[in-house]
Amino acid sequence: MSEQVLPPTQPKPAQLTYGEYLRVPALIGLQTPQSPHHDELLFIIIHQTYELWFKQLLHELDAVIACLQNRNAPNANEDVYEAARLLRRCTEIMRVLVEQFTILETMLPTHFLAFREHLHPASGFQSEQFRELEFLCGLKDEKMLRYHDAVPELRAQLERRLREPSLRDVFFAALPTLSEIMNEDEAMEFQRRAEAIRALYRDERAFAHGRAWLDVCERLTEFDELLVSWRLRHIQMIERTIGVRMGTGGSSGASYLKLTLEKKVFPELWEARTMLSA
Ligand code: HEM
Repeated sequence: MSEQVLPPTQPKPAQLTYGEYLRVPALIGLQTPQSPHHDELLFIIIHQTYELWFKQLLHELDAVIACLQNRNAPNANEDVYEAARLLRRCTEIMRVLVEQFTILETMLPTHFLAFREHLHPASGFQSEQFRELEFLCGLKDEKMLRYHDAVPELRAQLERRLREPSLRDVFFAALPTLSEIMNEDEAMEFQRRAEAIRALYRDERAFAHGRAWLDVCERLTEFDELLVSWRLRHIQMIERTIGVRMGTGGSSGASYLKLTLEKKVFPELWEARTMLSA
């Protein structure tokens, strides 16, 4: 007998609906173009989508930090696996964020210029969540706070991220190989950390939960890689859209952003690769 195919049931009054659960009317009411230009809606929606994913990344990375801080708990082993699993989700989100620029690149430079003045002096540079992500990862720069003076709650949130342990801090505090490598000289701390990572890659079975740690290292390396890819794609898109013009945020534009390409969250993970031998 063939299986009966059922259509969805009709929602009853007062039952939770898709739109209510996801707050769809509020969500699709959040776009307020400043001009009548067709492409401004895309420009707004792309930015809002990035902000939603930034929110999700902050949520996931907070959970990764909690896992790594939990290393002395009885289920520490599971926590390292869980950290690796959640980091994989973060790298998949980052991949989408890198890809998304292509949608905005369907906008002709002339079409952007037609409404660009309407958003002046707002700029992605003022994205509080992007800066929060950098701070959470460990790329802390107190000088960035002043750009958020206008909104005290957001500035306070960034100050909190500056004070709290970063992903970098908790990763190195928990890394099992680090405590085995002694070096009193503070100037040699970078080398000691790179050495600890090298030790893990060289012999993952010699350390507690070594393979799970290796997985965490691989995901963090990938995250670092994808952050640079995001920065590079953003710059390429800018050059394609506004050339070498100044940014609406007042910087020199693409040339200013190129300085950020050197930023790495975990330079030790990269250094270890140079140190490794077969
Ligand atoms: C046509 C599209 C875009 C142009 C022309 C553009 C241009 C710029 C420029 C020139 C800057 C440097 C600061 C300034 O002077 O304004 C900047 C920074 C930034 N933009 Fe964009 N942008 C675009 C799209 C986006 C999108 C879709 C996002 C997604 C959230 C974004 C996020 C950012 C962030 C986070 C920064 C700060 C980066 C940092 O400090 O390292 N931008 N953008």
